[in-house]
Amino acid sequence: MKLDVLLGLQWGDEGKGKIVDVLAPKYNVISRFQGGPNAGHSLEFNKIKHVLHTIPSGVFRPETINIIGNGVVIDPVIFSKEIDALEKLGVNIRKNLFISKKAHLILPSHRILDAASEAAKGKTKIGSTLKGIGPTYMDKTGRNGIRVGDTLSTDFMNKYNQLTNKHKDILKQYKFEYDLKEYEDCWFKGIALLKSFQIIESEHQINKYLDEGKSILAEGAQGTLLDIDFGSYPFVTSSNTICAGACTGLGVAPNRIGKVFGIFKAYCTRVGSGPFPTELENTTGETIRKQGHEYGATTGRPRRCGWLDLPALKYAIMLNGVTDLIITKSDVLSGFKSLQVCTHYIHNGKRIDYLPYEINEPIEPVYEEFKGWDMDITNCKKFSELPEEFITYLKYIEKEVKVPITIISVGPDREQTITK
Ligand code: GDP
Ligand code: IMO
Ligand code: MG
Repeated sequence: MKLDVLLGLQWGDEGKGKIVDVLAPKYNVISRFQGGPNAGHSLEFNKIKHVLHTIPSGVFRPETINIIGNGVVIDPVIFSKEIDALEKLGVNIRKNLFISKKAHLILPSHRILDAASEAAKGKTKIGSTLKGIGPTYMDKTGRNGIRVGDTLSTDFMNKYNQLTNKHKDILKQYKFEYDLKEYEDCWFKGIALLKSFQIIESEHQINKYLDEGKSILAEGAQGTLLDIDFGSYPFVTSSNTICAGACTGLGVAPNRIGKVFGIFKAYCTRVGSGPFPTELENTTGETIRKQGHEYGATTGRPRRCGWLDLPALKYAIMLNGVTDLIITKSDVLSGFKSLQVCTHYIHNGKRIDYLPYEINEPIEPVYEEFKGWDMDITNCKKFSELPEEFITYLKYIEKEVKVPITIISVGPDREQTITK
């Protein structure tokens, strides 16, 4: 059996949580492979919205096994809050959740370092979610990190104190006031809870599942344009958000990857700093934000909004080897007289059709205009019910990017999903 991957093709928040929840009944296992609580994955059913940060979005399907892979970074405090909320809803999380021994832990001092580093950057700040992601991955690659498996060792407190003291030394360079104590208390309670879960060597379990013919869907976090290597560096996150990240973040060989579902919004959004060629800093952008409720699921920050960007989408499709496209939030565009799609950029006076290395320099988008549609599409159940103008929009995208759109999401609820 092959492992399928679902990941974001833009700057995150494409609707991954919703679609993973929709696809979950088709899979035995859902697994997260990178990122951490910087992610906020929303899913909605029975008129209730749920937001997950660390836990895979298969958790609401009673038969689905959920794995937090080795590539994920875990904050025990946030993890505990998620578990609490799920248990209150009566979700039997203990039976079906497995956590990799090799996943790294976000320490209280990693969060402080994130905040201190962002504060020191001033105007050039990344706009991090301040969850300690960057400092934790720095310690991972710097070979200083603490892993979930370490919590089971008698040496754990020593390791914790050593790394925290190192961080306290680094923090002396910043004029940044902090108080570790209160967060530390919750953190150690979180560690105790984490240890009560099934902690495993997930790479073995995942490969065994595949050998047994079980189906697995890997759930990406963030989006391709926030990838540490290929995103708009330095305004990126600290992990590989692309498909290759599923191999390293789960221990699955590249030849075991099956379908790659690439998910994108019918327009673009970005939260935090960094380049955004098609950003609309005008009333049209505000209308999209209002109609699309574009506020961060993790931080509540307003998301920057703009038109669909085809060169960026093509780049993301290339990097990930996308086999199936999923478009979300098309319903948000209902009521616009006309829509624009960016087909090229003007950079240094030249017309180019790719994202240049100098993405942080001003580049001017070139647009093609499309006729909008008035119809409310949130209740459409079949492709044939969709307005002609929207179908033209979809067909144009497919023709340009040369990958079929197989799922169309027309609202936040599970049921508001059209499969072609
Ligand atoms: P994720 O991080 O990729 O899982 O996406 P988020 O949950 O951060 O943001 C997506 C937001 O859009 C959430 O509030 C979803 O409930 C909502 N959403 C998902 N798909 C659709 C859709 O097709 N239409 C509308 N209107 N909202 C959607
Ligand atoms: P999901 O999985 C949108 C952004 C932050 C910031 C940059 C770095 O919900 O799509 P970090 O906290 O990683 O140091 O922040 O990346 N960012 C996201 N934007 N969706 C996300 O996750 C994000 N996770 C991080 O806003 O610009
Ligand atoms: Mg999100």
